[in-house]
Amino acid sequence: MKFNWPLAVSPFTLRDRLKIARRIVSCDRYTMGEKVEEFEHRMSDLSGRLALGVCSGSCANQLLFEFWKIRNAGEKAVVIAPAVTWLTSVSPTIMAGFEVRFCDINLKDFSFDYEKLEAMLKKLRGRRVIIWPTALIGRCPDMECLSHLAEHYKAELFLDACENTLSFLRGQSILASCPITTTSCYFSHQVVAIEFGFIFFRDARDYNIAKMFRNHGLTRSLQPHIAIRKEIEGAHLDVDPQFLFGVNGTNIRPSEIHAMFGLIDLPRAGAASLHRNKLYARFRSHLTSVGGGVHPFIVPPLGKFDNAYCLPIFTTDRYCGEVKKALVASGAEARPIVGGNLLRQPALRGYGHPADFPNAEWVHKRGFYLGLHKGVTEAMIDRLASFLTQKHWVRRP
Ligand SMILES: Cc1ncc(COP(=O)(O)O)c(C=O)c1O
Repeated sequence: MKFNWPLAVSPFTLRDRLKIARRIVSCDRYTMGEKVEEFEHRMSDLSGRLALGVCSGSCANQLLFEFWKIRNAGEKAVVIAPAVTWLTSVSPTIMAGFEVRFCDINLKDFSFDYEKLEAMLKKLRGRRVIIWPTALIGRCPDMECLSHLAEHYKAELFLDACENTLSFLRGQSILASCPITTTSCYFSHQVVAIEFGFIFFRDARDYNIAKMFRNHGLTRSLQPHIAIRKEIEGAHLDVDPQFLFGVNGTNIRPSEIHAMFGLIDLPRAGAASLHRNKLYARFRSHLTSVGGGVHPFIVPPLGKFDNAYCLPIFTTDRYCGEVKKALVASGAEARPIVGGNLLRQPALRGYGHPADFPNAEWVHKRGFYLGLHKGVTEAMIDRLASFLTQKHWVRRP
């Protein structure tokens, strides 16, 4: 059986690209112009929060932890991160000098094992703690439970929603489910701007500090009437306000061109998400009906508020490599479930023993995913289901 199944396809048509090309011909501005602002406004409307655009999801995470240090000058905190996520959810915390502790995940929403998380929070009583879950592969962590734990143990709660931009939980965007969240608009994510990220704030002062940080630390990144700009300018009359660095910032500004791509994709994102969810449900129903449930594959159900990000498939650890190889040989690109068990990654050597994270191990050894995008059709899903439920896989122990 042959597939033509890439991990991702561009959601942009030739007409979209020509639209952007025409704009470039007529307007010679490429950075921090009206398109970035418009994209930020649209994402503020979507999330119900103050959306600040940056050049990637990784930079949004970097900004979050650097911002925390500015807001809490001289303080230290422990960050609790899930054992399965993308490296750049964790690496910004390490680069910013936080102490990172990993917690195992659960196999339902793929966020923390909530009991283990609580045990860690108990042990860390008296220290400043940041709970830092990931909305992995389009799932929604149990934000109610996490908010309750954060409140009870006086911890802070932020969310990496890079893999889930679009979920709405009880009428509220996932991006508004805690004080600060981040998302990515990278290729194959739920809103695509090719390279782009956002950080979402509940608090306007926090947003303004972060905005200065994003733009080299310059106070003039803020409107003249903004209180924090006036305070800093008023206290530093000896420095030219054109180059007045209010915070120790950097340049992680997004480009106009990427914002234009994002503005084209955003109105289509809902339909694209529906397409993914339908294919996901179709695939699951095949696997549950074909082969009488004796085949060795599990595709976890989507929760009520989840948005399929990819097609994750779990099997026995003996089969996993074999099936993946067979799929790749047939033309379907496969990837591990994000970073797998991060404790196995050389970049994180010394942060813990992989075996102490059994659910992360399960995901690492048994899981992989295929892309889910507009290039995937119902016929491809049907063929994949027949490929996986063919006797060759089903019969073997
Ligand atoms: C959970 C998570 N966090 C952060 C990122 C980083 O986003 P970006 O690729 O836009 O830098 C990703 C990227 O896929 C991700 O999956």
